[in-house]
Amino acid sequence: MKKIILVVGARPNFMKIAPLMHQLKGDTDIKPILVHTGQHYDSQMSGRFFEELGIPAPDINLEVGSASHAEQTAKIMIGFEKVCLEEKPDFVLVVGDVNSTVACTLVAAKLNIKTIHYEAGLRSHDRTMPEEINRLVTDSITDYFFTTSADADENLIKEGVDTSKIFMVGNLMIDTLEANLKKAAVSEQKFALLNRVGEVDITSLLKTGYGVMTFHRPSNVDEKETLETLVNIWSEISEKIPLVFPIHPRTMNNIKLFGLMEKMNRPNIYLIDSLGYLEFIHLVSKAKFALTDSGGIQEETTHLNIPCLTVRPNTERPVTIWEGSNKLIGVPEILPETEAIIRGEGKLGLNPKYWDGKTAERIIAIVKKI
Ligand code: UD1
Repeated sequence: MKKIILVVGARPNFMKIAPLMHQLKGDTDIKPILVHTGQHYDSQMSGRFFEELGIPAPDINLEVGSASHAEQTAKIMIGFEKVCLEEKPDFVLVVGDVNSTVACTLVAAKLNIKTIHYEAGLRSHDRTMPEEINRLVTDSITDYFFTTSADADENLIKEGVDTSKIFMVGNLMIDTLEANLKKAAVSEQKFALLNRVGEVDITSLLKTGYGVMTFHRPSNVDEKETLETLVNIWSEISEKIPLVFPIHPRTMNNIKLFGLMEKMNRPNIYLIDSLGYLEFIHLVSKAKFALTDSGGIQEETTHLNIPCLTVRPNTERPVTIWEGSNKLIGVPEILPETEAIIRGEGKLGLNPKYWDGKTAERIIAIVKKI
């Protein structure tokens, strides 16, 4: 029997690990050990995703918490090395591009444990993004590369990776989306507002239509000037269409720190706490559009065929633009692009190959053979 450690750390990892854990339930060839690094730790960012997605409680939690990049990465490495020495796994499987991904790959590689990176080969070619550094370092030492799209394979081949180590398996996030979309329709739809007294009832917004927003990238929210410009634009858009904004703790902290809360107090901006998975995908699936800087939401909206405006200079997920409903835009284009969507001219697209809900099945079949 093969022993595999699966690593999760931050919010976007949970949707990727869930289908693998379900696929491995009762498997007689593979024994999974789930390690949570604790990079995200509270119920809002971590706990409730385990409950909603039916992920078993982690076998081990390193409880590293928030810190600078160096400190967080180092703490994960120290904790994970002990786990690997104790458990002696055959494989370590990491997902995505967060600090936990790179930290655990480094530890396993140095202990000569075979590593598998799911979501390998994605490149934004922008090294100011911490995630790009994490992707490059992880892929320079991992043994097996599981990819979500053909462009990722091409990136890896250009970097000299042997094609026999690359497996295009599709998208695990879509496994989770497919498995949960029906359940999501019955979840809670009333949420307390954070920018004024009261609550928002999503059902009542369905009549007019609404946009859903998420912003948390350091490049958009960590500097006052950029964040203030965004706040002003959100306010202008809200004159035309309601905006529902489940806010990431990083963005909330900065809005308060920069004294921008008063500007967020507009009747058509519905600022709410970050949501659980079911609530969030329900919100997105009913929206007219998404306005975001997230990575995962570009993929989810492509699968749902809902126009997505991604406010970033680049994306590591170009297939969502070439084939899907995603558009990459700069800050000055936010307003005109939103107006185009309101006029019914939003971008629609196709579902990329293997984004079909069967990726976990493919991954586990391959892991059994390697
Ligand atoms: C991390 C990932 C990013 C991913 C994002 C999704 C890295 C480098 N970044 O960024 O790729 O898109 O997760 O959320 O790995 N906080 C809480 N509760 C928590 C965790 C964090 O309130 O459970 C707050 C803390 O104030 C913390 C801040 O959020 O300082 C940022 O958290 P951090 O893990 O440093 O990075 P993210 O911005 O979430």
